[in-house]
Amino acid sequence: MANFEVYDQVDVSLTEHQYPILICRNGLQNPNFLRTIVTSSQVLIVTNQTIAPLYLKQVQAAFADVQCDVLILKDGEQYKNQHSLFTIYDALIQQKHHRDTVLIALGGGVIGDITGFVASTYQRGVKFVQIPTTLLAQIDASIGGKTAINHALGKNMIGSFYQPQAVIIDLATLNTLPEREFRAGLAEMIKYGLLAGGDFFKLLSTTLQQGLAASSTQLPQLIAECCRIKAQFVETDEKEAGQRALLNLGHTFAHALETYTHYQQWLHGEAVAIGLYCATLLSHKMQLVDKQLVEQVEQILHFAGLPHKIPNTVNLDRLIGLMQSDKKIKNNCLRFVLIKKPGDCYLEAGVTEDCLYNALVAAVRGE
Ligand code: NAD
Ligand code: GLY
Repeated sequence: MANFEVYDQVDVSLTEHQYPILICRNGLQNPNFLRTIVTSSQVLIVTNQTIAPLYLKQVQAAFADVQCDVLILKDGEQYKNQHSLFTIYDALIQQKHHRDTVLIALGGGVIGDITGFVASTYQRGVKFVQIPTTLLAQIDASIGGKTAINHALGKNMIGSFYQPQAVIIDLATLNTLPEREFRAGLAEMIKYGLLAGGDFFKLLSTTLQQGLAASSTQLPQLIAECCRIKAQFVETDEKEAGQRALLNLGHTFAHALETYTHYQQWLHGEAVAIGLYCATLLSHKMQLVDKQLVEQVEQILHFAGLPHKIPNTVNLDRLIGLMQSDKKIKNNCLRFVLIKKPGDCYLEAGVTEDCLYNALVAAVRGE
């Protein structure tokens, strides 16, 4: 068996619930490890057609002595819908899963979000465990209990806040992740760098400059730090009444760019990368940060192999229109997460359309 190593444990402590995020290598190949975390007599593993051939057998092996059912969805964001949802409910009911069952989400954010939503609703709520297999899901989607499916009229429109029992991050799964997906995850890491600032931002900048890959020795520490940052935001504001919204740094721009291009041009993390650059430029136009930070963010994104500019084919008026339908609108006012300095971000409701337009023009030019 490959070397099994637990690097770190980050605990998410909420008022009514607490769970560990376990960061390890080759944990999926260690049945005893999985069995100590999931002790129920019934489990349903939800995964997809890409991940099943890679990791399903390993996870199944841990549950050879209990009822272990499997549901394999088609791969893609377009299957994060009500049809897949009901396919999972059907399996649970047909296989007679009772209220003590545990659902295991084995996959990226799509699998995690849909499995979490099923868990929050099946028989008014059953337990679930996240085994995220993309970098983005390991440092973001699997933590914090946001679950959802998409509606034909909007992404993540139907969902709940429902926390998992545990998050198991096996770094070995990143060995099979396509490089583009890995880089997309780095965008969320850079977001945490800007939110947290300090030593983490410095370490991340240096490491990215040297070249960060799935095999890098610094990766476990960086992932653990991202999990810690996310856990702190979730602990402070589980249901996003205020502080947690800061995790959307760059996302107002990213969501508009994704909608504008019908989700065809960029992976989510790539759109977030451009969004982070836009958010830094907007902070500069609002005279919060100097040009040096704009250049630094551009450099970091470049080192991570991520885009930063808005293509000049994008109609900026239309893009602003799309931003106005973003979920972060409160009292008809568009709010942006802005940066005062790395480690000091806040929600700003007073951005004028002129200022926004100027920032977007600069993001097209790459100024
Ligand atoms: P994804 O789940 O679509 O995975 C990306 C691709 O990588 C898929 O093709 C998948 O099959 C493949 N893949 C996954 N792991 C692999 C592995 N180890 N080896 C080879 N291939 C692998 O995308 P994602 O970026 O992980 O997640 C995006 C989703 O997460 C979106 O639906 C988004 O809305 C959601 N999300 C949720 C939250 C949250 O807080 N709940 C936060 C961010 C994003
Ligand atoms: N991904 C943003 C959040 O979990 O709040």
